[in-house]
Amino acid sequence: MTTRCTTYLLLFLSFYLVVNCGNIKDFASANEELKTNNISYTNTIKPIIESYCITCHSGENPAADFVLNTYEAVRRQTEKGELLQRINDRYEPMPTDGLMPVALRQAIQKWAENGFKQHTTITTSTSQTMEKHEFTPPKIVPIDINYQGFDFFELMQGHWIGKMNIMGQKYDWFSFDYRPIAPSHIHGIYEGGTVGNLLTSFFISNYNGKRTIMARNGGILNGIYRMSYFVLDHVEQTGTEQYFRFVDAYGGKEIMWMELSFKDDRLSFNSYTSRFGLKGKPKQHMKFDAVRKHSGIAKATAQQLNYPKNIVDKDFSTGFPKPNWGNAYPTITSASYMHRDTSLDLKTLGELAGDPYNISEIPYLARLAVDIEQNAQIKNYPLIIYLSQNALTDNNGKLHLEYGQLKQDLFDSIFLFPDLAPNTRSFTFDYLHPGQYYITVLADLNQDGYVSKGDITSKSIPLIITPNSSQTINIKDILNRN
Ligand code: HEC
Repeated sequence: MTTRCTTYLLLFLSFYLVVNCGNIKDFASANEELKTNNISYTNTIKPIIESYCITCHSGENPAADFVLNTYEAVRRQTEKGELLQRINDRYEPMPTDGLMPVALRQAIQKWAENGFKQHTTITTSTSQTMEKHEFTPPKIVPIDINYQGFDFFELMQGHWIGKMNIMGQKYDWFSFDYRPIAPSHIHGIYEGGTVGNLLTSFFISNYNGKRTIMARNGGILNGIYRMSYFVLDHVEQTGTEQYFRFVDAYGGKEIMWMELSFKDDRLSFNSYTSRFGLKGKPKQHMKFDAVRKHSGIAKATAQQLNYPKNIVDKDFSTGFPKPNWGNAYPTITSASYMHRDTSLDLKTLGELAGDPYNISEIPYLARLAVDIEQNAQIKNYPLIIYLSQNALTDNNGKLHLEYGQLKQDLFDSIFLFPDLAPNTRSFTFDYLHPGQYYITVLADLNQDGYVSKGDITSKSIPLIITPNSSQTINIKDILNRN
């Protein structure tokens, strides 16, 4: 594994975020504008500055004594050269918490090269496609789980470890920890760290007159909140293999879908997307082939929550709310809810996005804020927080290594592994499964994206997370060189 997990997450989430809806500015549409060389202040640059810079470079006491709130101001700072230098400086990045996606940085560069255009006169290819796009949603016929499919909840439980392949990029080690969070709701998340996160949960609902399973998939990428909903519309059993297909709860299989097949202790989890219908038929963009390492923890939680039970977790029998993507995009193709604002909490973001299932209603999860004490040895390096079942270090804070790498069984005891930009001082897990963990913070000196010889670690310390709790832990002394 040589590529950092961050790259993976960017690719994964960006795939959904091609529509520049309402006030959402994402780098996929910046990519589009880069291609057409159609970059203006109003269309491209202003939204980037507003998302990434304005919180500090505006107001009465702006950082470094300059504001970035007008065309003239942004142009002046860019002409001086400092702005372009700092947005590309890995060690002293602007924004301070890490470099922006490369497409956004290139957009600012191109804007300068092309002479600081203020307004766009012709519409971008993306919005032209959207205007012409007609879409009639299909009638989705869900699987009635009173007859088949209910065993999905039994099958999904466990700590899955395997290989991830995302748009042609391969990752040798990846983990999803699926545990019940209610009698008929199971949840797993990938905490990517600085760049965002990605969750998929499955729950029982009433949809189009049937009791069925729905999936909720999305997360946060650079402050863009997105949540998409899927419905179980196909179940198949061949020999010992069980297959489940979930399609977009508004646009159906033509827009996006995911499939999970289980055979013994193996899971194959694939997803396909058409970028909201803009790119023709859905193409595969994720493939996760995993083995269930254990399911004891999930099963203990199941017993406590009376899971799996055939009861409705969240009811949509009176219809599923249609998202509002803003005036610019009247054509809705997907049950996807989005909002961008880097300063808001998940509850407010969900409300503003119109997400029908708010985090505040989600039972049996917890929140953990991690405060990290920086020091001179580590401040220039990315950090990784490991939440694992076992301690990764000994009592002196040294990793249990074998051939220069973490012992495999310890590696496989890692549940979550958020990846943080250099000099990060805090991180919050918002959807944490209650339970017992060890927490270890690692400064990734060789920058290979995972735990290995040469890295500097804190000592692994035990942690108990109770349901619905919110706690803060301080990690000091990230000083042990391995
Ligand atoms: C979290 C607050 C914060 C954010 C967000 C932020 N900056 Fe800054 N910026 C600062 C602070 C503080 C300084 C002064 C210290 C320094 O130079 O590192 C600074 C300095 C700068 C400088 C150097 C000015 C000089 O005269 O040396 C530039 C250029 C700059 N920022 C541009 C940006 C741009 C462009 C963005 C958005 C892409 C951005 N900043 C986002 C806080 C921020």
